[in-house]
Amino acid sequence: MKTLGEHIVDKQAEFPDATGELTSLLSSIKLAAKVVNRDINKAGLVDIIGATGVHNIQGEEQQKMDLFANEKFKAALEARGEVCGIASEEEDEIIVFHSERGRNGKYVVLIDPLDGSSNIDVNVSVGTIFSIYRRLSARGNAPTLEDFLQPGRDQVAAGYIIYGSSTMLVYSTGFGVNGFTCDPSLGVFYLSHENMQIPEDGRIYSINEGNYLAFPLGVKKYIKYCQEEHQESDRPYTSRYIGSLVSDFHRNLLKGGIYMYPSTGTLKCGKLRLLYECNPLAFLIEQAGGRASNGFTRILDIKPKEVHQRVPFYCGSVNMVNKVESMIQTYADQDKAKDSDVS
Ligand code: AHG
Ligand code: MN
Ligand code: MN
Repeated sequence: MKTLGEHIVDKQAEFPDATGELTSLLSSIKLAAKVVNRDINKAGLVDIIGATGVHNIQGEEQQKMDLFANEKFKAALEARGEVCGIASEEEDEIIVFHSERGRNGKYVVLIDPLDGSSNIDVNVSVGTIFSIYRRLSARGNAPTLEDFLQPGRDQVAAGYIIYGSSTMLVYSTGFGVNGFTCDPSLGVFYLSHENMQIPEDGRIYSINEGNYLAFPLGVKKYIKYCQEEHQESDRPYTSRYIGSLVSDFHRNLLKGGIYMYPSTGTLKCGKLRLLYECNPLAFLIEQAGGRASNGFTRILDIKPKEVHQRVPFYCGSVNMVNKVESMIQTYADQDKAKDSDVS
């Protein structure tokens, strides 16, 4: 079986101009993933579960494992010199790698070091999400904010690690999506899911229905549509929501389905972050034949304004995303009228 390392090197060989820098960068992500995986597996035995008592810039309480994963990925990305800076969910500002090698780095990386971290305490799957861009500023200098605020369509590569019943790394460099499963006895990722494609249609919808009353009208109508009996099976769709974006996304990618995080009463742009959650997963879903939208616009076409920007997120099987998008748009005027009544 082909290993992740062999696969990355094979892909590089297909590009005569490739310098090996992206290859090296991907392998530093692979290394950090193994370290984080090892420690997540020990959660409960060592003192790494629970909250730190500190909140990140977005007002969310940081878990011990959030900070641990952040440090491991940061160190791995700085070590090899391909990366000039990172943006992370757990860092207030962009992090610039100031060493000479760092300043010469060709890439910036945006990362959610631990996604679904509150699930660690209850032994539910969590993940890491990463997104890679070529810098726009000249090499040799410190990166600028503009290097990080590129639209998602310009990603060079993106992927995630899922620390689940088995640990997998799934990534794309824009030529399809491939998934690798870690053999824990060897610590080696093997190609197990070649050229992943999401079915055009699915029967799973994933959304936190606790927020139902605050959803846009079109989303409420779509949920009701999912709950109706559907001709093909005489059954409604199936609701599945883990509360770990990576896990919900991974299941829907394999089986077909839709993941939704709409605006809610308190979170007008939803909860998920454009740069290190939505963009990388949108890149992967498009590469797998699916779609990702904020209800009106393709996620990958949004020009980011700030590093921790949030967006509503509808992602998955193409026919399902098309359907919810058209319902959101149909009822958008009624939503606007309601909002202006309230204000
Ligand atoms: P993170 O742990 O990186 O902050 O992400 C949590 C996200 C995502 O994983 C999940 O889908 C979503 O938050 C769940 O939010 P709700 O609890 O509001 O449903
Ligand atoms: Mn997350
Ligand atoms: Mn996180």
